[in-house]
Amino acid sequence: MSESFQASGSGKPGFTRRRFIIGSVGVTAVAALGGTAVRAPRALAGTAPSGPPTATLPLPTTTAPEQLLLTWGNDPARDVTVSWSAPGTVAQPAPVLAFSTRPISGHNPGHLVKLPDPAPLNVTKRYGEAASVSFTDGLNGQTTYFYHVQLTGLEPGTRYYYQVSDGAATPSTAGASFETAPAGRAKFRFSSYGDLATPSWDLNTSGNIWHESCDNSWYAVTAIESPGDGLGAPLFHLLNGDLCYANLDVNNAPGVWRDFGNNIGRSAANRPWMPALGNHEVEFGVDNFSGHPGNAPGGVAAQGAAGNYWNGPYGYGHYLSRFLLPDNGLINWDGNRLRGNFYAFQVGTVKFISLDADDVIYQDGGANYVINAANQAPETIAATGAQIPNGTTAYNREYTGNLTLDAKDNALVPDIASGKPNLQTLWLEGTLAQARRDPSVDMIVVFMHQCAMSTSASGNGSDLGIRQAWLPLFDKYEVDLVLSGHEHDYERSYPVRGYDAGAHGTVVTPNPGQTAGTAVDTRRPSVAATEPYSHDGIPAWNTGEGTVYLVLGGGGTNGPTNTYGTDTADDLPKAKVITQRNAVVGAEATGFVKDGADSVEDAPWSAAINPTDAYGYSIFDVDPGHGRGDTTITFQYFAIPAVSNEAGTAHDGTTTLPSVPTEKFVFGRKVGNGNGHSGGGPGKGGQH
Ligand SMILES: [Fe+2]
Ligand SMILES: [Fe+2]
Repeated sequence: MSESFQASGSGKPGFTRRRFIIGSVGVTAVAALGGTAVRAPRALAGTAPSGPPTATLPLPTTTAPEQLLLTWGNDPARDVTVSWSAPGTVAQPAPVLAFSTRPISGHNPGHLVKLPDPAPLNVTKRYGEAASVSFTDGLNGQTTYFYHVQLTGLEPGTRYYYQVSDGAATPSTAGASFETAPAGRAKFRFSSYGDLATPSWDLNTSGNIWHESCDNSWYAVTAIESPGDGLGAPLFHLLNGDLCYANLDVNNAPGVWRDFGNNIGRSAANRPWMPALGNHEVEFGVDNFSGHPGNAPGGVAAQGAAGNYWNGPYGYGHYLSRFLLPDNGLINWDGNRLRGNFYAFQVGTVKFISLDADDVIYQDGGANYVINAANQAPETIAATGAQIPNGTTAYNREYTGNLTLDAKDNALVPDIASGKPNLQTLWLEGTLAQARRDPSVDMIVVFMHQCAMSTSASGNGSDLGIRQAWLPLFDKYEVDLVLSGHEHDYERSYPVRGYDAGAHGTVVTPNPGQTAGTAVDTRRPSVAATEPYSHDGIPAWNTGEGTVYLVLGGGGTNGPTNTYGTDTADDLPKAKVITQRNAVVGAEATGFVKDGADSVEDAPWSAAINPTDAYGYSIFDVDPGHGRGDTTITFQYFAIPAVSNEAGTAHDGTTTLPSVPTEKFVFGRKVGNGNGHSGGGPGKGGQH
């Protein structure tokens, strides 16, 4: 169908509604220039395991600290949280953190912070400066330990060294250093992708293959430490949900998380990694929805039958144990604090907002036990007897409160009249309004997991729930960039603002109650511009004219979805759209089926796809310019070739990380016209 353009991405008149197809051009350029060859460490085991374990495997009983992880506190210029873990099921005897602006040594022991005894995850309570958290997996019964120290009052733009110890008689230590964010208007670099998963057996700490294991996951972390342009590692990284897919390995979720923690620790020990919740952070367990122990008689085997399927609050127990994130200050209607579920922070002139789209999407969570076979036995975890009945899916929609339809613009708004309005959406509007009033904020970057816009045919599609609940706010407050994952591929939208009134979608695979062929209002985003400006010779989009959506889900899973839809009748991109909950239909006696996306729409908003390479990472360079409103973000997308080790054999030990981006653009609110909102035709020159 569409033409392949040059990978430089320069504007080309006449192709206004055709997508920019990234393909072999970029890859060839990489090969010609020779990217960075990266050698894998020696394989741990001689032969690959046959596949994901079907029984619970033991975890280590050693206590040497590992899985080092940094996150920003509320103010990245001054607050950094240091987290780490014990390898397995034994708590560290007396964990301690030392930190200093000089390397920790015998001569410089640094400032010491001793951690308290571990306490089970309890998100109704506030955290102290230092916290030791234990979490018992609701399915396999393993208890693992996580340590957090919230450093505050640090100096901006300063390197700090730290060392953590397990406090054993002969202590084991681990450490690294990090840099706090600069104060005020400053240049900095950040990076992003989602859907990282875990490396395969030859690069995993455990030597196991998990359900989404793929060695691209290892190279994705390597790339953040050494981006392809040679200009250095970012200040921090955004991880857009679906971190490790532990909810697919119901016998071994803590073991999957451990391999994830050690993989990202190669970078997250050196710079903050800021996550968003995805559908695969929703885990089955034996708690009720709010994370309180289920009360069905008969022990854990009876919990499933009683409807208690959650692993900690909303199934997020492992996530909330591992990540102590900036505090949004909210307490949910059930009494749980919502710290870390969604949050905001500012670096330089950019406000970053992490959202939990599980709260507004129509599609359900990544935890499913849906088998299309009669009288299927419950999924049973042998280690504990915990059971999940067939036909069970996790669904967190409206877990922070209710939404109601505002028919005048097909929007979903917090339902005040219900007495329990959606807290996340209220918080989002307040946070966006405050950011746009704040003279120190030029640009707003939202990151979350699921997609408002995706034309992946093999993936999930676009979710109307996000379009209804949050796109009206992204439009009103002129969010500049929205980063997501969920689809295991790359896609970029044109700048969009508002929506195309009317029914632009068609039901094609109806849920019960829907009729195939019926028109449906998909609240299709309106394209604001199809030709880039130029800024310092680089193609540029004015995000004051419209928000640009980037799907960056090529972190490293073994399930790429970079097959994209096209309407053969008009050659327009075509998107699947989920306009209501994916129904689970069937019965115990006959088996269950879960529906996918119900509708499709022509998708003129889709500007670029990459059918060649599913994997890749994004680098963003922020330049505040000379004064208020001048900020630009230069974006580079580096595709990473797939590593072919999915058959379970070790790959050849090297891969070539590209040194040339497959896309490069400048985003800014003044590019093209010098004063933000006047719009303008194609091809205007930049002002700088
Ligand atoms: Fe994913
Ligand atoms: Fe996902």
